[in-house]
This record gives sequence, C-alpha cells and structure tokens, in this order.
Amino acid sequence: MNPIDYLRISVIDRCNFRCQYCMPEGADLAYVLRQNWLTRQELNRLLREVFVPVGFTRFRLTGGEPLLRADLVDIVADIVALPETEDISLTSNGFLLAKLAQPLWEAGLRRLNISLDSLDADTFATIIGRPGATRWNQVWAGIQAAHRVGFDPLKLNVVVIPGVNDHEVLDLAALTLDRQWHVRFIEFMPIGNGDLFAATGWVPSEVLRSQIRDRWGLVSGNVLGNGPADIFQIPGAQGTLGFISQMSECFCDRCNRMRLSADGWLRPCLLNETGQINLRELLRGGMPLAEIRDRVAALVWAKPEINFKMRDSGTTGTYRRTMSQIGG
Ligand code: GTP
Ligand code: 5AD
Ligand code: SF4
Repeated sequence: MNPIDYLRISVIDRCNFRCQYCMPEGADLAYVLRQNWLTRQELNRLLREVFVPVGFTRFRLTGGEPLLRADLVDIVADIVALPETEDISLTSNGFLLAKLAQPLWEAGLRRLNISLDSLDADTFATIIGRPGATRWNQVWAGIQAAHRVGFDPLKLNVVVIPGVNDHEVLDLAALTLDRQWHVRFIEFMPIGNGDLFAATGWVPSEVLRSQIRDRWGLVSGNVLGNGPADIFQIPGAQGTLGFISQMSECFCDRCNRMRLSADGWLRPCLLNETGQINLRELLRGGMPLAEIRDRVAALVWAKPEINFKMRDSGTTGTYRRTMSQIGG
C-alpha cells in the first residue's frame, strides 16, 4: 500500500483565467467567502499539529490560481520552515509569475508546474477564455523568469483537447529538446466542462507517444515528482515528457495524496467527496487539535477503500466542486 504523504493545498478558489477544460463557458462560479478561507495561521497550525504528525511530508499549493493569494509567499515560507517538509511545489497558470518568481524562490520554493496549453497566442486565448495575445506573452515571460531564477524541475502542463491543441503536441514536445523543461500531456477529463468533453472527447496518451516516437524516438525518463505522470524522454533531449493518463489508465491504486480546499475541506479523492471533513469548522469550533488529528488519521486509513469502491463500481463518486475549486 502507498503511504498517503502528499497533500495538495488549494489556497484560493478564484482564478484569473477561464480555461475551457476547467470551467463551463459563462460559468458563474459561487466563490467561497473570504472569511471562510483558512488563514495562513490556521493552515500553519493544521500542518504542524495535524498533517505532519499524520505523515504528510510533501506539499503542493494550488488554486484556482494560487498566485492571486496575497500571503502566498509567506505560506510557502511557513511550509519550507517545517523540518519534516521533504518537498514543496506549486501549480500555477503563470500569469503573475514574472513578478513573483524571485520572491517565491527567496521563500524557499524550488520547483513549479505551470499550465501552457498552446504555443499559439490565439489558440491560447481561446483555451483560457480571455481574449488577446497579451496573456500568452505574459505567461511565457513568467516561464522565462522562473527559468532564469533557477526553478528546477520546471514542468509545463498541457491538457490535450482534440481539435483545439492536439496538432501542437510535437511542437510542445520539442520544447524539451534543448531546454531543461519538462512537458506533461494530460488526458482531458470530464470534470469541469462536461459539455466540451462530450463534444471533443480526449486523446489517449499512447496516441501522443506514438506520434512522438515516430518523429524522434522515445525512451523512459526520470524527473522529481509525486504525481501520477509516466515519464519518458526524447533520446538526447534536455528535458522529459510526462503523460498523465487518468482516462486510459486507472492510477487510483498508486494514489498517495489528499486535497485540502481553500475553505478547509479535506477530501480523500479528486473524484470522490465521500468522507470529506471540514477542518475549518472543527478548528474554529474549538475541537482540540489532537481530536482533529484522529479524524484526519481515520480518513487516511479509510482512503484506500474509498478509492477502490469507486474504481470497482466503475463510476465516479459524488463531487460538486469544479477543478478550479479543488485545485486539479
Ligand atoms: P508532481 O509532483 O510534479 O508530479 O506534480 P503533480 O503532477 O501531482 O501536480 P500537478 O498539479 O501538475 O498535476 C497535474 C494534473 O494531474 C492535475 O491537474 C490533474 O489533472 C492530474 N492529477 C493529479 N493528481 C490526480 C489524481 O489524484 N487523480 C486524477 N484523476 N488526476 C490527477
Ligand atoms: N482535465 C484534465 N486536467 C484538468 N485540469 C483542469 N481541468 C482539467 C480537466 N478537465 C488541470 C490542468 C491544470 C490544473 C490546474 O488542472 O492540468 O494545469
Ligand atoms: Fe485554468 Fe487553472 Fe484557472 Fe482552471 S484553475 S481556469 S485550469 S488557470
């Protein structure tokens, strides 16, 4: 059995993009009230007194868009300061990164995953649901800034949508040839925008691998990470290629993670809310930290059964939140 030691922490449910795959078009998302966000101090207490004692040592900050959270740099510094932290990373859309790369580095962050779904500014604008070429330029500047500052590994996430950006797979893969960047292709999942998914479908990772294999060849690769990506590499390339294949391959049995939402819900599974606990309510309601710890430990114990029940029934569990509210 995998140890459950990787916590994905969503620090904010708001986002400055409207990625098609993540949100239904024109969606009017109900945001969590700001007073219901876990504060930096609450998060720090939960990490020190609950998550670390229960065995979590790897942390990822997500959103919405985490760089929108004003005290993000301080939150990073808090997690870096925990002696038990083995890994801390962040998933971002990169839009605010040009300014924040340096402060994040100074706070002790060393690796980043950034969404880059297209190399074409117009296609990018369509995907992120925001008009104009400026956003692509700004994201690209953010990636360059992160590279200059020294973030390593630097991973670029691409959700592949048939008819939208699947013709760019080779161009995106080519970014790894002479840069030490790690490009990951993610199979489009029917979460977030079910209508788009029904219209376009998804591309199996193996189809992408065979295109890449035909062009350059493909061998197995290696890069630091805690997620479900299968790692390959173009022979001689500086960077690697990752494939996150949640549609064509069930990786629930190697799941090592839980998710904490901005308003304090701890969920055992991306696709299943069964058993989730609202830690904010427990904390603010005055429950002793030792008791909260027991509740979290019990959920960690229950997780394999929750995962397998869902896998074996062939259905997804109950979930009401979109990807941007869960943090991917
Ligand atoms: P590394 O530690 O760098 O490997 O990070 P990661 O791949 O865990 O993080 P990232 O936020 O970049 O995740 C990329 C995408 O993988 C997510 O946005 C999801 O689409 C997918 N993913 C991650 N974890 C799960 C999971 O538990 N289940 C499913 N179905 N998809 C997941
Ligand atoms: N399918 C696959 N991945 C998704 N993400 C968001 N929505 C989807 C979806 N429907 C992932 C993207 C993004 C991260 C925040 O969530 O990889 O980088
Ligand atoms: Fe796009 Fe991420 Fe924002 Fe969703 S949360 S709209 S994937 S940038």
